[in-house]
Amino acid sequence: IGEGPGFHEDKQGEPFVGKAGQLLTKIIETMGLSRADVYIANILKCRPDTPGESAGNRKPTPDEMATCIPYLHEQIDLIQPKVLVALGGTAVAGLLGKTVGIMKLRGTWKTYREIPLMPTYHPAYLLRNQALSEKRHVWEDMLQVMEKLALPITEKQRRFFAKA
Ligand code: URA
Repeated sequence: IGEGPGFHEDKQGEPFVGKAGQLLTKIIETMGLSRADVYIANILKCRPDTPGESAGNRKPTPDEMATCIPYLHEQIDLIQPKVLVALGGTAVAGLLGKTVGIMKLRGTWKTYREIPLMPTYHPAYLLRNQALSEKRHVWEDMLQVMEKLALPITEKQRRFFAKA
């Protein structure tokens, strides 16, 4: 679950098809899955407007997220996912309300609509911050998700992004 559509998502009507989406695809594939195995959604169903600007992204407001959340609830109820992953602090705030920051929250299981929820960093953050430590954090969170789903984990997967 991400925040909301950006430029490319708005054009194509698909979530996570831009740069952040390509990284998300890589993360999913590194888990041994494909995009077809997971359901990718956003809290916001339309792109946040940026009045006075022709392009650009902004964070959705709490009010906008609250307006769209019933749609996400329908999606969750239909799909009945075994696990939810919240991508980034804004998505977490949209789901759980304002709690502690994503830096503290990531890697700790929460529950949303009785489904285990793993908060992690947004892939766009990983594109901005190329530090190995941040990639490792997201990967550790994904290893927890794989464990929860009882997916096989190879030694190689365990060691990804680990310090030498
Ligand atoms: N960022 C998001 O949060 N969602 C998308 O669909 C694309 C980028």
